[in-house]
Amino acid sequence: MEEEFKEEVLRGILAFYEGKRRELIPVLHETQGIFGWLSEEAMRVIARFLNIPEGEVYSVASFYNQFRLMPLGRNIVTVCRGTACHIRGAPKVLDEIGKALGLKDGETSPDLEHTLESVACIGCCALAPVVKVNYKVHGEMTREKAREVFQATPQIEDAR
Ligand code: FES
Repeated sequence: MEEEFKEEVLRGILAFYEGKRRELIPVLHETQGIFGWLSEEAMRVIARFLNIPEGEVYSVASFYNQFRLMPLGRNIVTVCRGTACHIRGAPKVLDEIGKALGLKDGETSPDLEHTLESVACIGCCALAPVVKVNYKVHGEMTREKAREVFQATPQIEDAR
């Protein structure tokens, strides 16, 4: 669950570090672990602590796709792109859902309603291709099924 950014919380994390440039990635991971994403404010504090330019923190955070530069949406739509799902049509399903939500992989809608992300394996390969909406798994997805789930029900159920 995301926590609202509080500088004192981040300072509590940073207290366990020495303030060396090489600590940037672990600090970013831990910060995201607490707040759910990396805000500009958080990156500014990290840059000051590590004594490196803010631009360097931003470019590292934006280079690696495990770092989020936007908060997660209220509904998390996860499309599996693992091998079993890939060979059974996951790219088409991702494309269809992306169109329905107006999002690319890794993006969150400006109203913070949805986040679309892809992962390596959800762990239910027998149901491939698989999509998870919050905690609900939808198996054997097709473009048509994706359209039904994401267009007929634009307000995705809050099943978290
Ligand atoms: S590869 Fe998609 S659930 Fe395992």
